[in-house]
Amino acid sequence: MDTEIIKIADSGDLSEADDAKLRAAGEIVRQGGLVAFPTETVYGLGGDALNKESSHKIYAAKGRPSDNPLIVHICEFEDIYPIVREVPEDAKRIAQAFWPGPLTMILPKSDKVPSETTGGLDTVAVRMPAHPVAQRLIAYSGGYVAAPSANTSGKPSPTVAKYVVEDMHGKIDVIIDGGEVGIGLESTIIDLTVSPPMVLRPGYITREKLAEVLGQVESDVTILREDSGQAPKAPGMKYRHYAPKGELTIVQGEARKVMEYINDCSAEDREAGQRVGVIATAEMKEHYCADVVKSVGSRKDEESIARHLYTILREFDDEGVTRIYSEGFVAEGFGQAIMNRLLKAAGHSVVELK
Ligand code: TXA
Ligand code: MG
Repeated sequence: MDTEIIKIADSGDLSEADDAKLRAAGEIVRQGGLVAFPTETVYGLGGDALNKESSHKIYAAKGRPSDNPLIVHICEFEDIYPIVREVPEDAKRIAQAFWPGPLTMILPKSDKVPSETTGGLDTVAVRMPAHPVAQRLIAYSGGYVAAPSANTSGKPSPTVAKYVVEDMHGKIDVIIDGGEVGIGLESTIIDLTVSPPMVLRPGYITREKLAEVLGQVESDVTILREDSGQAPKAPGMKYRHYAPKGELTIVQGEARKVMEYINDCSAEDREAGQRVGVIATAEMKEHYCADVVKSVGSRKDEESIARHLYTILREFDDEGVTRIYSEGFVAEGFGQAIMNRLLKAAGHSVVELK
C-alpha cells in the first residue's frame, strides 16, 4: 500500500492549506481507511470507530491481539451520548475539568459501537484529545475515531512522526506529521463502571487530580507491581509493552550508588561484548561511562522526562544498544506514569540498592 505523508504546521495554528489536507484525510477515514495523527499524548492510528472493518485493519496494521480494545476519540462532549448507555454525573464532572485533554473514560457501550472496536467488551473507552490536528481530523472523519498508539504492538509509542513512518509505512493510507507531541506518555484511563472509580493506566492527569473532582478514586494494584496475583483491568496493560530491543534494568537508590553500580555493570557487559546504553537524568549524565549515555531530562522537570522516555528507548534500538540501564524515578503524581511505563519496558527488572 502507498502511504502518503502529510506535513502540518507544528504550531497548532492550522492554515487553510492544512485544513484542506485534514479534510481529505478525514474523508479517507470515513471510507474505511487508516490515518495516523498527532495527539497531545502520543501519535494515534485512526480509523472509523463505528466501522468494524476499520477496527480489523487497525489490529492488522499494528499486529495487535484483537482482544485488546481501542479508544474511541471524539471532539465534542455531546458526541459521547450515542456511543454509551449512560453518562454518569462523574463523567460530566471530569469532562468539565479535564476535556479536551489526556484522559480516557471507560463507560458501558451502546450498540452503535461494534464489539470489534471494544475487543469484545461491553464497555467502551472514550477520550477527547486537546491537540488541534486531532480535533479537526476527528470532526472531518465523522466524529468517532478509534485510535491506539501508532506503533507496532509491543514497541514504544511514537512521540514523533519518524517512528510512525518506521512502523506503519506501507501498512496505512496516511501519516500526518504534526511535529513532536507535548506529553509523550499515553492518556490516563479511568474506569467509571466501578465504584469508587479506578485508574487503570496512570498518565498526566493523576489519581490525585481526579480525586479532587470525584472524591475517592482507586488505582489498579497492577500499575506498579507484577506480584499482586491479579490481571490488569485494562487488557492492554498485560502485555510487555513499550519495550526496546535491548534488555533494560532499572536501578533505584541514592544517586551516587546508582551511578557506581551502573558503571560497574557497564564495564563488565562491555567486556562481554554488549553495547551498553544508560538512561540518565541531566544531573548525573556526565558521570556515566557506557557506549551511549542519554539524558532523559532533569529530575526537577518530570514533564521533560515523560516527553523523552519513549524517544530514547527508540534511539537505543536505532543505535544497536543491547543492554540498557536506567535510573529510577519517584512513583508519585505524574512520576507514577513514568515508572509504570519504565517498569513495563524493563519487564519489571529492578535492582534496589540499599
Ligand atoms: O493517549 C492515548 O490514550 C493514545 C492516543 C493515541 O490517544 N492512545 C492509546 O491507545 O494509548 P492504546 O490502544 O495504545 O491503549 C489503549 C488502552 C489499552 O491498554 C486497552 O486495553 C485499554 O486502553 N482499553 C481500551 N478500552 C478499554 C475498555 N473498554 N476497558 C478497559 N480497558 C480498555
Ligand atoms: Mg499503545
